Amino acid sequence: MQAFSEPRPAPASPIAEPMTVALVGFGEVGVVHHHAYRNSPAVRLVGVADPNPARLALIDPADGVPTYARLEDMLAEQKPQIACVLTPAATHEDVVRACAQAGAHVLCEKPLALSEASAEAMIAACREAGVKLSYGSSYRHLPAVREARRLIAEDAIGRVRLLQEQAVGGTGPKAQRPMGPVHYPVGGPGGTGMGLVDHGVHLIDIFGWLIGDHVRGVFGRGNRTGEPLGVEFLTLTFDGGAVGQLVYDDGVFPTTLPGEGLFSWGGFWDAAGYHAGGQWAAHPGCIHVHGERGALRIFHYANALFLNDADGLRQIPVEDRPAPHHFAAQIEAFVEDIRADAAPATPAEAGVEALRVLLAAYESDGRRTVAIPG
Ligand SMILES: NC(=O)c1ccc[n+]([C@@H]2O[C@H](COP(=O)([O-])OP(=O)(O)OC[C@H]3O[C@@H](n4cnc5c(N)ncnc54)[C@H](O)[C@@H]3O)[C@@H](O)[C@H]2O)c1
Repeated sequence: MQAFSEPRPAPASPIAEPMTVALVGFGEVGVVHHHAYRNSPAVRLVGVADPNPARLALIDPADGVPTYARLEDMLAEQKPQIACVLTPAATHEDVVRACAQAGAHVLCEKPLALSEASAEAMIAACREAGVKLSYGSSYRHLPAVREARRLIAEDAIGRVRLLQEQAVGGTGPKAQRPMGPVHYPVGGPGGTGMGLVDHGVHLIDIFGWLIGDHVRGVFGRGNRTGEPLGVEFLTLTFDGGAVGQLVYDDGVFPTTLPGEGLFSWGGFWDAAGYHAGGQWAAHPGCIHVHGERGALRIFHYANALFLNDADGLRQIPVEDRPAPHHFAAQIEAFVEDIRADAAPATPAEAGVEALRVLLAAYESDGRRTVAIPG
């Protein structure tokens, strides 16, 4: 087993000058972007904007990062090269447009938007402003996920037939915390942080990215804001025949047996902020990938990867940059794209594709399969 250690900083870029970055929104995920960027030589944080003074008060004045109640003031004063949009999805379109019009390249958190029309409007606004828009698919930067993708591309497990993630278990419905209408307006996709819209959207993107394929059929059902919460599920069929499956419910009790958890080397975060050091997780995030010659079990946040094939089960070493440093890796990749004047490696279109599949699950409503045009 890999030993617990502080993450190594990213390899020094041959270009010494970091790019200036501003954070828009300093909620749960704003805290971890801030934490991760501190260790990255690729960026220099020049501002944080959030209308909630209690959130801005969490920033240590010793950090010397200017804070703003108004996004417009930050953009005008700091003129950041990159703006990271870390606000609720319902606000993404307006915020992305404001950042693009101020001349900032934009990295936008998942889900990209709550409708395809809104996502397309964001893409158009960035195109018109001549800035790049990258989709914040942070899971693409988790070392265990990256290494799994490399192994699949090398044909280490043969043709992939099945990808699965299940997050089932909590302490009953009373303990569930719906995201609420600020994040997800009433009547539309909603539910809790471990459900389809807020978490599953990561996996929808990751499954296709892992195997280099696109979803063509969707059967599933998700919770909606304002309605009673239930089990959420999604079955995806890919062009090449592979099947992806997601099952979520944090309103029931788990069936985990003693010893089935794993130590997460990275720190963790919640509404109170970022907590350094590892933790024991009874339900560490876990993706199963089954191929015709082998299988991978990816503990994405625990930074651990296992391969099982005819030679037996073994742990595969992965880069020692556990969560939340995938957020640093993500911004470093975007900095490289901008410097090379290349299209973002994770383009906004990946966010549109994931959104299309997600919304198809709601259309399916557990009754029929929805086709995704090729
Ligand atoms: N990649 C990941 O692993 C991950 C994890 C958590 C959340 N997220 C995504 O990040 C986004 C934010 O989620 P969160 O959990 O941090 O939400 P949150 O509710 O904790 O925080 C959102 C913050 O945005 C601020 N805000 C709202 N409108 C604003 C505006 N116009 N300008 C500036 N600030 C504004 C709010 O005051 C709040 O502090 C969502 O899109 C969410 O899906 C991604």
